[in-house]
Amino acid sequence: MTGYPSLGTAAARLVAALALAATASTAATGAMAQETVSQLVQRSFDTAAAQYGGLLDKVQRKPGFPRTTDKGEVVMVGPGDWTAGFFPGSLWYLYEHTGEARWRLAAADYTTRTAPAKFDKSQHDLGFMLGAGYGNGYRLTGDPAYRDALLAGATTLVTRFNPKVGSIQSWDLWKNSSWAFPVIVDNLMNLELLTWAARSAVEPRYRDIAVTHADTTLRNHFRPDGSSYHLVDYDPHTGHIRSRVTVQGNADASSWARGQAWALYGYTMMYRETRKQDYLQQAHKIAAFFMRHPRLPADKVPYWDFDDPAIPNAPRDSSAAAIVASSLLELASLSTAEQGRAYRAFAEAQLRSLASPAYLASGGEGGNDNGGFLLKHATGHKPAGKEIDVPLNYADYYFLEALLRLKRTQAGS
Ligand code: GLY
Repeated sequence: MTGYPSLGTAAARLVAALALAATASTAATGAMAQETVSQLVQRSFDTAAAQYGGLLDKVQRKPGFPRTTDKGEVVMVGPGDWTAGFFPGSLWYLYEHTGEARWRLAAADYTTRTAPAKFDKSQHDLGFMLGAGYGNGYRLTGDPAYRDALLAGATTLVTRFNPKVGSIQSWDLWKNSSWAFPVIVDNLMNLELLTWAARSAVEPRYRDIAVTHADTTLRNHFRPDGSSYHLVDYDPHTGHIRSRVTVQGNADASSWARGQAWALYGYTMMYRETRKQDYLQQAHKIAAFFMRHPRLPADKVPYWDFDDPAIPNAPRDSSAAAIVASSLLELASLSTAEQGRAYRAFAEAQLRSLASPAYLASGGEGGNDNGGFLLKHATGHKPAGKEIDVPLNYADYYFLEALLRLKRTQAGS
């Protein structure tokens, strides 16, 4: 175990808890509605520091990465889990906001722990697993070892590309033997690793693969209303579609909330990376589907699936809201002034909901509230009966990313 300083001495935690308790009681009297954006961002990061300080104290001597909680206990996962990079990613965002060395040291430690993913050819999630830790680490420090890790990961990821299909295979077939070449909409999130690597290593083939995958997904994953299927299974020899199904959604034809969020983030990012108009149009279409959906609750945090017949008694998914907020803040910067204002207002409203006591952990109990995680009420895999109405490390990660994007928007306005 590396020797970075303890992040939660009793005294420091007491001071933080008292400050947060004072904030919470102000919030309870209704003053929170008047918070400025910079107050909102600062309060959320103060809470994140208290929560993640406590979480680090709890987990730093154990192997692996905190992913969620089960009956109040933190669930740890290994470096082969698709969510492994989000914990170091959130630590980098804490470092970015505060500039404090303690977060940088912790982020660097946990980033290095994700190194085995560089050579993992068995899955498509390397963009998540390496991008959040190594990607942010490289952006914030310029450490060439981080660059090398990202390039190694990109070289591994492209081994899963099939030119006949025009896609990167998501899962190996052990997951379901009736599939032949499954591609999930989430896979769009891995493409930034390839567009970045193409630029950094002057390797245009990686960019071509990313664009081909995004084009294939655009043709085959979407319905006329802009919503997305979760999984398209292809014939790997002909590229023909065998089926369109769901794994994590309510039904094959339903709109799983996080799937829509990944799609929005993915096409916004791919437009930024390529300036292809098709991607921008698709991002607008997905945004409209989400923002105008009649079953989107007033606080703009979606139910886990827009088509769950149990709505309004269905679980929410705060992770989907955080991903959408982050996406819309980027899409705003790529849109006309009028569209940009609408996207920013919507994202800000989502973030105000997520930063309210209904979703945000208290920061008290020495960072032990909500198991040490930041956001409550996320849903990971409802059809499997797993991770329903729990904290999830990626909900926290995209929430912090969105807050930093909101902060930059304010700084630039
Ligand atoms: N497969 C990523 C997710 O659960 O959203």
